[in-house]
Amino acid sequence: MVNKSSLELEQTLNKCNIQDSTEHLLEKIETINRLKQEKNAVILAHYYMRDSIKIGIADYVGDSLDLSKSAMRTEADLIVFCGVDFMAETAKILNPHKKVILPSREAGCSLAESITAEDVKKLRKDYPDAAIATYINTTADVKAECDVCVTSANAPKVISRLPNKRVVFIPDNYMARNLENEIDKEIIFWDGTCVVHEQFNQHYFREFRSKVPGLKVLAHYECDPSTIEAADMHGSTSDMRRYVGETDADAYLLATECGLASTIIEDHPEKKIIGPCMICPYMKEITIDNTLHALTDEKPEITISAYTIDRARISLERMFALGDSNER
Ligand code: 13P
Ligand code: SF4
Repeated sequence: MVNKSSLELEQTLNKCNIQDSTEHLLEKIETINRLKQEKNAVILAHYYMRDSIKIGIADYVGDSLDLSKSAMRTEADLIVFCGVDFMAETAKILNPHKKVILPSREAGCSLAESITAEDVKKLRKDYPDAAIATYINTTADVKAECDVCVTSANAPKVISRLPNKRVVFIPDNYMARNLENEIDKEIIFWDGTCVVHEQFNQHYFREFRSKVPGLKVLAHYECDPSTIEAADMHGSTSDMRRYVGETDADAYLLATECGLASTIIEDHPEKKIIGPCMICPYMKEITIDNTLHALTDEKPEITISAYTIDRARISLERMFALGDSNER
């Protein structure tokens, strides 16, 4: 974790201006929108995408849970996922007969990279009585070895409804510890962290609070427990978006990846939103250019064996079953 000085904070905020090159941007956006119609394609985009993607070409913008539900409901033949690998894999698991493409092979996730299917098999042997719950930020191979999947929008609800007293929660160590503080389960941790959210801390919040009176601090569930404790609310990116809409504060600090801020500013142009620019290098791999190429060539395509899809889908189905009925 880092403790940033005011100067560093300012420099970080200035770096926030990560956008696509403006050269021929409108033409590229028009071409993508035309190709989408010709190919009956849908573009699903996470909140952390660049504005050109969210505003110019996306059909749905949301958090991991929203996007998995949109993937399940789409009638398009082709799904272009402007997000990261595990999200595109989830769309494929839920739509095995559709073509799913992810514009960059480099769009991974530090959490998903922290654990393998072999690691989960070992955990199963070490904790035979425990349920194994995976955060959605894992590969299809890992999901195939787990009992249930969760996202940051439904983790406490889904995990507290599991019959087991002990739950192995992978791979996010901080989220596991946050869950243990909130629900009546014994949680066994893995040691993955998010390279973005591990950078926030109490010092960071104190510094902003001292400069911005009436500030509400919103922290993503992937922040560590002491950081969450110092925030006014915590949850998924959609929870943070909803909180801004439902409350009336002088200003809001979003302790998450910088991309969410532009969506919330668009929702509430009258509110003061501070989106410190912690950049997810994986999410920012996706650009208008590689999305245009991906849609034109219909690749890189997500391919997962039928065996893995069938097993991984069980953990997702269980998540929907244990969540509220309106979560499906
Ligand atoms: P959300 O589902 O809350 O959008 O989180 C996804 C993610 O990768 C956060 O870093
Ligand atoms: Fe993974 Fe963190 Fe990037 Fe989300 S923000 S995709 S959890 S590395």
